[in-house]
Amino acid sequence: MQFRGAEAVVTVKEDEVIKKRIKKGYRHPELDRELRQQRTKLEARLLSSARRLGVPVPRVISVSECEIRMEFVPGKSVKEILSENFHEDVCFEIGSGLGKLHRGGIIHGDPTTSNMIYNGRVFFIDFGLGFFSTRKEDMAVDLSVLFESVKSAHFKYLNEIWENIMEGYSKENPESEAVCCVLRKIEKRKRYA
Ligand SMILES: Nc1ncnc2c1ncn2[C@@H]1O[C@H](COP(=O)(O)OP(=O)(O)O)[C@@H](O)[C@H]1O
Ligand SMILES: [Mg+2]
Repeated sequence: MQFRGAEAVVTVKEDEVIKKRIKKGYRHPELDRELRQQRTKLEARLLSSARRLGVPVPRVISVSECEIRMEFVPGKSVKEILSENFHEDVCFEIGSGLGKLHRGGIIHGDPTTSNMIYNGRVFFIDFGLGFFSTRKEDMAVDLSVLFESVKSAHFKYLNEIWENIMEGYSKENPESEAVCCVLRKIEKRKRYA
């Protein structure tokens, strides 16, 4: 199976997944190659660091210029799981996983429920927009992306889901109070915009 995103082509095989960053025609060819190489290297480093923090992520098999080969994670997307029903334990794990990443200085960049796979544990995938940071503002924006994805995909159980996500998050990130404070400001700004 193949997924074509804006930045990458992802080829999913039985035992491995190959994520290849594609050329952007509007960029200078050399600059384009440089940027794709850097993004690929960063994404692989984020995956390895997340793994060291104990957050379930696919194992990186190899990295070359613009391509990451990684372990295939079987299971359903968390989006599908939560569309069927509310699952307290899954929500708690989404929060604790993101909390661990943040405590370890990793911002996921796109923590929507489509970028998580459930197979007994919640695996985080797609660190393509991720970066290293310990700023509370960056953590809050990450949480806000997650909140918006839950709001749009799982509105029916929004309150239950969010409550359990934040329970997991605050257990793992000692700065959660301060991060939530920034998150509330972000959400308020959005409502007035
Ligand atoms: N390690 C993996 N195991 C299983 N499926 C994966 C894995 N990585 C990616 N996928 C599948 O490929 C899709 C696209 O990969 P992703 O990294 O999210 O790329 P994009 O940046 O284009 O969104 C995911 O939504 C998921 O369905
Ligand atoms: Mg994705």
